[in-house]
Parts: sequence; C-alpha cells; structure tokens
Amino acid sequence: MSDAPVVEVDPAEFWADPYPTLARMRAEAPICFVPQLGATLLTRRDDIHTCEKNVAVFSSDQPGGLMNQLMGRNMMRSDGEEHRRERFVYYPAVSPRRVEAVWAAQFDQVATAVLDDLEAMPGSADLVPSYATALSGEALKAMTGLTQVSFADLDAWSQAMIDGIANYSGDRVVEQRCLAAVAAIDAAIDERLPALRAEPDHSLLSVMAESGMPMENVRANIKLTISGGQNEPRDAIAGAIWALLTHPDQLAMAMTGEVSWLAVFEEYCRWISPIGMSPRRIDAEHTFGEVTFEPDERVFLMFSSANHDEDYFSHPERFDVTRDTSANLTFGAGPHFCAGAAASRSLVGDVALPRLFERLGEGLRLDRSADPVCFGGWAFRGPLNVPVVW
Ligand code: HEM
Repeated sequence: MSDAPVVEVDPAEFWADPYPTLARMRAEAPICFVPQLGATLLTRRDDIHTCEKNVAVFSSDQPGGLMNQLMGRNMMRSDGEEHRRERFVYYPAVSPRRVEAVWAAQFDQVATAVLDDLEAMPGSADLVPSYATALSGEALKAMTGLTQVSFADLDAWSQAMIDGIANYSGDRVVEQRCLAAVAAIDAAIDERLPALRAEPDHSLLSVMAESGMPMENVRANIKLTISGGQNEPRDAIAGAIWALLTHPDQLAMAMTGEVSWLAVFEEYCRWISPIGMSPRRIDAEHTFGEVTFEPDERVFLMFSSANHDEDYFSHPERFDVTRDTSANLTFGAGPHFCAGAAASRSLVGDVALPRLFERLGEGLRLDRSADPVCFGGWAFRGPLNVPVVW
C-alpha cells in the first residue's frame, strides 16, 4: 500500500454523488489511499495527465484483474508493443476519417428509426430506454458487426460486464450474470463470422478477424467494445438532454446555433463524466510527489475529478456550454486514449442531440409528474431515468 494519506469515504454517499468528496480530496489530499475502495486515488488533472503516460509504472496490464478473468485479455489491459499491435488494427475502423466516411451516415439512419418509434409514443416517455439506450445500441451493432442481435441484448450484456468488472465484493450472482453475457457474445460472434468472412465489411469484428489477429483477442476486444461503447454514449445522450432541459438558457444557445451541439456534449461529459475512473497496477516501486507507491498496488485515475480541477475549470460544479473544455480528460490522457472518441462525438454531438430537439422541438420538457431524475455511480455515472413529455 502507498504511504499516501488515508481518506475514508461512505460508499453509498460516494455512489450517490462523488463530486463533493472529490473536491475535498483535491484540496486536502490530492493523492490519497481510500480503504473502502482498496486503492490509491489520483484526483488532480496534471497528476493524472503525467502518470497515465508513465506506463512503465502505472500499468494497464493487470493479469489478476477482474476484466482479464471474466472477459479475456483485451487491448485496454495490455501495455507496450502488445497494446500497440492490437490498437494498430482496431483504431482505423473507428478513426475520425472512418467515422466520417462510414459510420456518421449509419448513425443518422438509425436515429431516424429510433425517433420514429419515439414519436409514435403517446407524448411521453423515459428517454433512457426509449432513446439513449436504443440509439447507442443500434450504433454499436453497426460498429461491432453484430447486426443480428437486439440493442436490448447489447445493453444488458454491457451492464452485466460493467457490473462484473467492478464486483470487488465477489458477489456470485453478479459474476454469473457477467459470465453468461460473455458466453452470449461468443455465440453471437460465432453466428455472425461466416457471413463476414464471406463478405468482409468495415465493422470491428470483420476488420480484426481479417487482420489475422488471434480470435481469442478479437473476441476479447469485441467484449471490451460492448462494455465500453454502450453505457457511456447512452449516459452522455440521456444526461446531456437532461442538462439542457434543466438549463433553458443553455438549451436556447444550442437551438439558435450560438453554441454547437458538440460543445454541449463536451461540456456535459466534463461536468458529469460517463467514465469517472480507470484502474492501473503499480509495476515497480515509485515515488511521485510526496507519495511512494508499492509494486502491485491498485491506483485509480479519477477522470471525473480531473474534469472538475479548479486549476483548469472555474466553478467546475456549473454546467456551462460556453466554457473552454479542451483540458478535459473525458476520454483519458495517454496511450489508452478512447478509441471510440470520434464515434461518440459524431453519434452524440452530431446526431443524437440535434436530431431529438429538431424532431420534438420546443415542446420537449421534463415530466414533473413522473419520478425525479436520479443519477448514480462513481466509476461509471449517468441518469437512471429521464422522463419527458412533448
Ligand atoms: C461518451 C462515450 C465514451 C467515453 C466517455 C469513453 C471513455 C473512455 C476512457 C476514459 C477510456 C480510457 C481508459 C483508460 O485510460 O484506461 C476509453 C478507452 C476505450 N474506449 Fe471509450 N469511451 C466512450 C465511448 C466509446 C465507444 C463508443 C467505443 C467503441 C466504439 C469505445 C471504445 C474504447 C476502447 C476500445 C478503449 C481502449 C483503448 C485502448 O486501450 O487503446 N469507447 N474510453
């Protein structure tokens, strides 16, 4: 364990809203050991920005980690040459150029179908299942190549894996649900692969399989894509809509084009980060600042806290679509920078937000007669419901 100062947290309070605790940590103990999480947390933006690049010490290679055990070894849990080799194959399939040339038009198409279904509803709906989950899932089906599955399956598998890799208490039911999801994804890959072999396309499954990458790694990277590419866009879509509906002045600026919808997306993800944390394993004894880390101990890079760092963002607790968000760490800050960042910006900033407000217009508002909107989570965070009327 590091010799960082110890800070206790109340797990329930931290899940409900981690931001006040993170603000206290930045002010009093920016690198601190939290017994309830069994890890040393880095909470300042510059510390994370520096350490994430020092892969010789802050390693993503976690052989005993839950992700490796449950989902197989993927590119996000490898370092150096091994990581570079897999990313070299994976990234071109979702690069900014490929998103513009291939995926943007498909995102727009699936948005039309999802909006048609939404508009057919009787003037009220919960946007988490009926818009955000559906749109994120349909987009992910196209990008992964698993076009035969339902978006609801993808969403359930993603949630089961996310719960499984955060299951530090070792709950057997959570573990079994995760393993069942992993097996279902393997079956879906087996079902889809023959057609993709016969007619290769731009999808991640086809591109990785055609590259000669071992199938074990192809499968693990498809599972990674489902676990990391469904909930986050879903939470960003639903969360940004809620943020605009509770800040009418900001919505007006987006509707008039004074600010871009992409700026809304960037500011929302800075304000409430869909991925709040990423783990690392210390590979060698190391002193950073006044803290000495021990080999094999667990470190959490708190991206959510970096995005509220007062040195970079004034009044970080405020949602402000006019602010400069360029210093954000929403997608990470090192060799593992999110491979899906361009796809997410296109899906949420260019399609999901403008298309919804264009279609449902000025009449869209929160349904005050329904349950209040509730947010949850610190490692992954988003709204659990966004009930609206139009
Ligand atoms: C709002 C949406 C998203 C957010 C906020 C997000 C955030 C992140 C973050 C913070 C990381 C870095 C983790 C680390 O440093 O350990 C990451 C990695 C990754 N993300 Fe995303 N992500 C999003 C959407 C997506 C989508 C849609 C895809 C797939 C199409 C995707 C695929 C990946 C992959 C493959 C990695 C690992 C990259 C590597 O290890 O080289 N993400 N994401």
